[in-house]
Order: sequence, then structure tokens, then C-alpha cells
Amino acid sequence: MPATAVSVIGYDFNNGIDHAAVARSMYTTGFQATSVGEAIIEINRMLNWRIEDEPNYQPEEELPDPDNPNAPPPPPPKCKIFLGYTSNMISSGLRESIRYLVEHKQVDVLVTSGGGVEEDFIKCLAKTYLSSFSVPGKELRAKGLNRIGNLVVPNANYCAFEDWVMPILDEMLEEQTTKGTHWTPSKMIHKLGSKINDPSSVYYWAWKNDIPVFCPAITDGSLGDMLYFHSFKNPGLIIDLVEDIRAINNKAVYAKKTGMVILGGGVIKHHICNANLMRNGADFSVFINTGQEFDGSDAGARPDEAVSWGKIKLEAKPVKVYSDATIVFPLIVAETFAQNVEKLKKQQQQ
Ligand SMILES: NC(=O)c1ccc[n+]([C@@H]2O[C@H](COP(=O)([O-])OP(=O)(O)OC[C@H]3O[C@@H](n4cnc5c(N)ncnc54)[C@H](O)[C@@H]3O)[C@@H](O)[C@H]2O)c1
Repeated sequence: MPATAVSVIGYDFNNGIDHAAVARSMYTTGFQATSVGEAIIEINRMLNWRIEDEPNYQPEEELPDPDNPNAPPPPPPKCKIFLGYTSNMISSGLRESIRYLVEHKQVDVLVTSGGGVEEDFIKCLAKTYLSSFSVPGKELRAKGLNRIGNLVVPNANYCAFEDWVMPILDEMLEEQTTKGTHWTPSKMIHKLGSKINDPSSVYYWAWKNDIPVFCPAITDGSLGDMLYFHSFKNPGLIIDLVEDIRAINNKAVYAKKTGMVILGGGVIKHHICNANLMRNGADFSVFINTGQEFDGSDAGARPDEAVSWGKIKLEAKPVKVYSDATIVFPLIVAETFAQNVEKLKKQQQQ
């Protein structure tokens, strides 16, 4: 074996019940635990990247803007992190991990699907409950309960959402007519975030911290139902995708470095990878999903497929973790982003 070979060793509980040490032992445990360890290393690479460490670093990058010489010098660029997640992540308790990252400005761009937007607001209005994967649909239907895996959402939650969102759609239409506002999914999500006034919401913080949220399939969920009903009650609202595709692609193009953290697959995974194609690939990548590649799906494609398209850089060290993200992502956050927040808090206190 080469001198650099790593031997396999797991956590020894004779050393006490130390959750952080258990998480750190994953890298040397093997199988998907090793992939979790690799994901932790890759995300820490994204967080630790600094322009000063680049071999071709040009100090002029930090000189004042010539068009606005009195403006303070821009902060040195950091790796721009794109976080994507499927709708069910927001239905689950992963919502709280995602909100933490947005609240503390640990990510720069969010991408989700329609349910990933509305479920966050609905949770501010009414609760989602634990249930079971095996409760018959017929029984739930009779009780007005909708199942998402082993969670249930009462019909009443969607009624509360309708009551909350309809006047905002009226306001958006009014703004479009009187001020010529050109609505896009990302502007609409910030508008909703500005209205919710609830710090438990991901999009309250996305609005407050000016973190864009892209949702190209915004109509495929309850928000789509609301837009459908609204189009009869008070027709005329237009939501345009073109401005948003420019915005997300430019986020990737005008970045010194990019990192992708993608929980789940489908549209959210491809939308982030495709934006990164515009810059000839992301520098750092972590995919966490249960998808398999044998069916040729993009959802199941390993990062190497994205390398072939120029969505991940040739020299990158992307990681795929095959797991339900609800199990591993909080552990990964604890060893990466949350450490960074603590470090930043300490720096602010000094
Ligand atoms: N709560 C909901 O799930 C919900 C609510 C309303 C609307 N919808 C709509 O349903 C459509 C499909 O949803 P989607 O695109 O968000 O994703 P999806 O639920 O179809 O999942 C896509 C893929 O992501 C992976 N994945 C999903 N959950 C995972 C997990 N917990 N861990 C690891 N991998 C996982 C799987 O490979 C899956 O095939 C969307 O248009 C969405 O708006 C969903």
C-alpha cells in the first residue's frame, strides 16, 4: 500500500458519547459514511476558498470601483455557493437547517421547486405533522389530510395559504399595472418573504439578506393553483422566466469560484448545474440524493456526467452521497456551515 493510504477505522464509543467525533469518524468508516466525510471536506473547501490563495491572484481586484471612486472597496470575493433542494426538504425538518444557512448568509443563491416555496410559508400559517408511510390514502382523503412520505398536511393549511396569498397576488397585479413591475419567480418569492414577517421562514431571511431564490417551475404546486384561481378572480398577472434565467446564469458567470450543494434531484439539480455550465463548470460540488444512474435520469446522474457537459470543472473533486438528505445534511451542516457561523461570530466579538 502507498504511504498515503488511509486505514479504515470507525468511532470507538469507549471514547464517550461525542456526536461531533462520530461525525468526524465517518470519513474513515467506509461506504456512504466516507462519502459524507468527503462532502464535509468539499463544503469546507467552498467555505475556505479565498482569492488571496489563488496562484494568479491580482491585488487590483480589490481596488475601488473607478466609476464610483468614493465607494468603500468591495469585500474580497468568496466562493459563491448555490444551494438547491427539492420541495419535500422544506416539508421536512430540513427546512430549519436551510433557514439557518440563509439567515446567516452562508449561501448565495437558492434554487427549489414550487412546493419548496409554498411549504415554507404554509408552515408559518399552520403545522405539518408526523404520520406514517402506511396510512391508506383513502382514510386520509376522508379526513382531509394530504400525505408527503410519513408527514401529513391538513387541507386547512392550504385554505390558510389561499387566504394569505390572494391579497398579495392582487397587490402584485396592482403594482404591475400602476408601476410597470416586471414580475419573475424570484421577485415574487422575495415579495412573499417581505410579507410573512416570521423569522422561522427561509424566504423571510432570503428577502432580508437579499439572497435570490430561483424557482423555474413555480406553478407546479399550490402556488400554481393560487395563480390559476387568481387568473379568474382578478386576471392579468404575468410572471416571466426570462429575466430569472439571465439572473441565475449571470450569478454563475460573474463569480470567481462557485460551489454547488444540491439536495435531491430533478429540476433543482439541473437548474444549478446548467447555470454553472455557463462558466465552464462549478469548482466545488456536493450532490446528496437517492437517485440511480442506470435509467439515464439527470436526477440519478453522478457528478462525472456533469463533468462531460462542462457543468463541473475538469479538475474539481465532486462528491455524491447516496442517502436520504434528511439524515445526513444536518450532520454535514454541523461540521461545515455551522462551524463557519461560529467562527464569524467570534471574529465579530473581537
Ligand atoms: N412537498 C412536496 O414534495 C411537494 C409539494 C408541492 C408540489 N410539489 C411538486 O412536485 C414536483 C416534484 O418535486 P421536486 O422536483 O421537488 O422533487 P421530487 O420529489 O420529484 O424528487 C426528485 C428526486 O430527488 C431525489 N430526492 C427526493 N427526496 C430526497 C431525499 N429526501 N433525499 C435524497 N434524495 C431525494 C430523488 O432522486 C427524487 O427522484 C415539483 O414540481 C414540486 O413543486 C412537491
